[in-house]
Amino acid sequence: MAPAPLLTLIFFLYLPLLSLHHAFAQSNTNITQGTTLSSSSANNSYRTSPSGDFAFGFYSIEGNQFLVGIWFHKIPERTLVWSANRDQPVQSGSTIQLTLDGRLGFTDSKGLETWIYNQTTGVSSGAMLDTGNFILVDSVSSILWQSFENPTDTLLPGQTFGQEKYLYSNRLEGDYRTGRFMLVMQVDGNLVLYPKGRRGLDPNGAYYASRTDGASSPVRLVFDRSGVLHLTNSSDQVIANVSSNALNSEDFYLRATIDSDGFFRLYSRRRNSNNGESWIVVSKIPNDRDACGVSGACGPNAYCVLQQDKAGCLCPQNFSFIDAKYAFDGCKQDFNRGCSAYLASDYTWAEYENVDWPTGDYERLDVNEDKCKEVCMNDCLCDLAITRNNDCWKKRMPVTEGRKRSSIAGKALFKVPLKSGPLERTKTIETIKKEDGNKTMVLVSWCLMSFSAILFILSMAAIAFAFKKGSRSRFISNNVESIEANLVSFKYAQLQEATNGFKELLGNGAYGSVYKGIMDVGREVQIAVKRLDKVVERGEKEFRTELHVIGRTHHKNLVRLLGFCDEGDQRLLIYEFMPNGSLADFLFGPTKPSWSERIQLAFGIARGITYLHEECETPIIHCDIKPQNILLDEFRTPKISDFGLAKLLQHNQTHTTTGIRGTRGYVAPEWFRNVSISTKVDVYSFGVVLLDIICCMKKSDHHDHNLEVQFVLSEWVYDCFFEGKVHELVEGDDAALGDLEQVERMVKVGLWCIQEDPSMRPSMKKVVQMLEGTIEVLAPPDSSTSWL
Ligand SMILES: *[C@@H]1O[C@H](CO)[C@@H](O)[C@H](O)[C@H]1NC(C)=O
Ligand SMILES: *[C@@H]1O[C@H](CO)[C@@H](O)[C@H](O)[C@H]1NC(C)=O
Ligand SMILES: *[C@@H]1O[C@H](CO)[C@@H](O)[C@H](O)[C@H]1NC(C)=O
Ligand SMILES: *[C@@H]1O[C@H](CO)[C@@H](O)[C@H](O)[C@H]1NC(C)=O
Ligand SMILES: *[C@@H]1O[C@H](CO)[C@@H](O)[C@H](O)[C@H]1NC(C)=O
Ligand SMILES: *[C@@H]1O[C@H](CO)[C@@H](O)[C@H](O)[C@H]1NC(C)=O
Repeated sequence: MAPAPLLTLIFFLYLPLLSLHHAFAQSNTNITQGTTLSSSSANNSYRTSPSGDFAFGFYSIEGNQFLVGIWFHKIPERTLVWSANRDQPVQSGSTIQLTLDGRLGFTDSKGLETWIYNQTTGVSSGAMLDTGNFILVDSVSSILWQSFENPTDTLLPGQTFGQEKYLYSNRLEGDYRTGRFMLVMQVDGNLVLYPKGRRGLDPNGAYYASRTDGASSPVRLVFDRSGVLHLTNSSDQVIANVSSNALNSEDFYLRATIDSDGFFRLYSRRRNSNNGESWIVVSKIPNDRDACGVSGACGPNAYCVLQQDKAGCLCPQNFSFIDAKYAFDGCKQDFNRGCSAYLASDYTWAEYENVDWPTGDYERLDVNEDKCKEVCMNDCLCDLAITRNNDCWKKRMPVTEGRKRSSIAGKALFKVPLKSGPLERTKTIETIKKEDGNKTMVLVSWCLMSFSAILFILSMAAIAFAFKKGSRSRFISNNVESIEANLVSFKYAQLQEATNGFKELLGNGAYGSVYKGIMDVGREVQIAVKRLDKVVERGEKEFRTELHVIGRTHHKNLVRLLGFCDEGDQRLLIYEFMPNGSLADFLFGPTKPSWSERIQLAFGIARGITYLHEECETPIIHCDIKPQNILLDEFRTPKISDFGLAKLLQHNQTHTTTGIRGTRGYVAPEWFRNVSISTKVDVYSFGVVLLDIICCMKKSDHHDHNLEVQFVLSEWVYDCFFEGKVHELVEGDDAALGDLEQVERMVKVGLWCIQEDPSMRPSMKKVVQMLEGTIEVLAPPDSSTSWL
């Protein structure tokens, strides 16, 4: 339908309404310099377009809050089509102002300003047009800014959606906050729908693609004034239709919106059978999927069940919704399970027929259901298994895209606790909460390492070698026997005395406890003594060989082992005490490090890992780089602890898959695949830690570092980077905001480090050079462009 008759129709239909609006003289005049709109004023809170079809101003939402937005003004629902502050509504008492120097912004009731337009080229007026486009023009009427160029979730006829534009769905119908799905016009020419923030980890997450990436670029999505959505190539020729052409002469308003369920729908305002009118869906993409077929319809660990054409999300037994209000956010485990105290007899199966979680597998076996159960039950890493005929997939959480459908053969088996017993036990071993102020210290177990019984986690209590040469020689001569120049062999009695009979417990690990002690070496030195509780099964010679290797590492950014005790059954390791706790406490605790401190932390940690990989005599893969394993000395210099406790790298065994250790979220994906492990696993973990360091303030509301949080963090960073919004990562941090070049460099390095493919990740040496700016950092690949 041509626009002219359309408008005429609207005009006559709404003539009475229209004249009502004219009663308010202010309603359809332009916004000029010095104009103020007020959310609490009945007659001056918005401006309409000349026809009155659209309005710009304060849009009232629940809870006496307002969005600054654009809406269909003549229909009772006043459907919102654009907003400037969907995630931060303002209270009544707020104002929108076009300042005298030509900037457009709004304040909340506390007077905080948000700018819609804040440039030195000033705006002379703002106009709400009849198309639904709100424009800001300068004194010669050139457009400086327009809402059509900055869409939120809706496109209108006449609007063009160009390269690298995004639409984000609402969180829920009527909840205007940014939701879970996005529509993107990619640079490669594809129009794509995918769950927001899935790019980093799940390149297959897209559930619609126009497959127009061969066309001459730029490809654009055009919402024709006749009401058709199509894609055009560089010569503005139509190369594909996105909507089916099912409009009729009755259509008087049209909009295309990405809805909170992930579908992008073309709506028409039509008369319905009750002689009223409503928005009718004319077409939608994807049109070949049901509500559960949208990637991310239900979040991690949940499964989707179709309920009257809508997606219903359910949690498996012993799981509950992360947020009961938003079932689609996914499910979390109600129980705690680690590998350290794993006993198969503590668990049983919750079985789900016709349910599949297609992601998350790390091993596939050709075995029947019984054997599959046996294998998974005896593997502490196996969270669930999917069996189908003679196939068995072992999986780790989180598993995504779960759904139940009669056409799905086979079943899902979830490993769940038999009783509440394992919960308690693993808790005491895995999560020792030390009530020290508000600090929660988490000791994390490590899995399956062949010699994990000998060496163990020192976590927060390890120490650095801070002795000056002089005091050191006295230390050695102080009646202790030196097995070689680097390490001191202590007598058990000495340690007993130093720790006052192992009185002050610093923390507890799966294989031993850490105690604080004081030793007199001419002056008093604080030490941390790690005591092995369990009987050591490995030979003394090997124990000493391993210690020897660890003892020969000397680096400013590594915690240093001072000595050990190997007397009868007793095996202990002695480190110097680290007074400032772990990086985890520092980053996510109450006193946040400044931007410059964070940069230094990143450099220091990178140098420490580089030394382990490339500069020490025997290369060492750490295998468990995470903020809890990075300790801070009195000057807050970061020192990596627990290295060498993982597999020591002999030159001829750089590749081994003997086992998995590490904390989820920081663990490289290849641990879960049947591929060889290299130093690149540490590069991956470092990448995640680096992102933590960059964004640390954002984590304050997620105190526990479960996988979901990491999941989201890397996704969020991906999104911010590829949407050119790196500044959002350091919001509220003025020092970092003033150093966006460095922020961006660090983000790029982080994204390179967490590439799925280990060979794509840089070496640590290169990481250091990139961080320092001595070599250029190219933009990391955007995995969303390579998924097709
Ligand atoms: C808006 O209403 C207030 C009183 O409610 C009145 O004083 C003011 O003149 C009105 N403004 C316009 C533009 O009609
Ligand atoms: C807006 O611009 C002014 C002047 O250039 C600047 O001082 C201010 O920080 C800017 N505000 C925002 C929120 O960007
Ligand atoms: C309002 O602004 C539009 C666009 O700049 C312009 O075409 C129109 O003439 C203006 N209207 C008034 C009443 O100034
Ligand atoms: C754009 O698409 C049209 C129709 O498919 C085609 O004829 C034309 O060559 C394309 N333009 C370019 C620059 O490839
Ligand atoms: C798009 O739809 C129009 C009208 O139905 C049709 O004429 C045209 O051939 C279609 N274009 C493509 C590329 O499918
Ligand atoms: C697991 O679920 C079962 C069945 O709902 C319940 O009886 C049991 O208490 C749950 N166990 C834990 C540890 O949550």
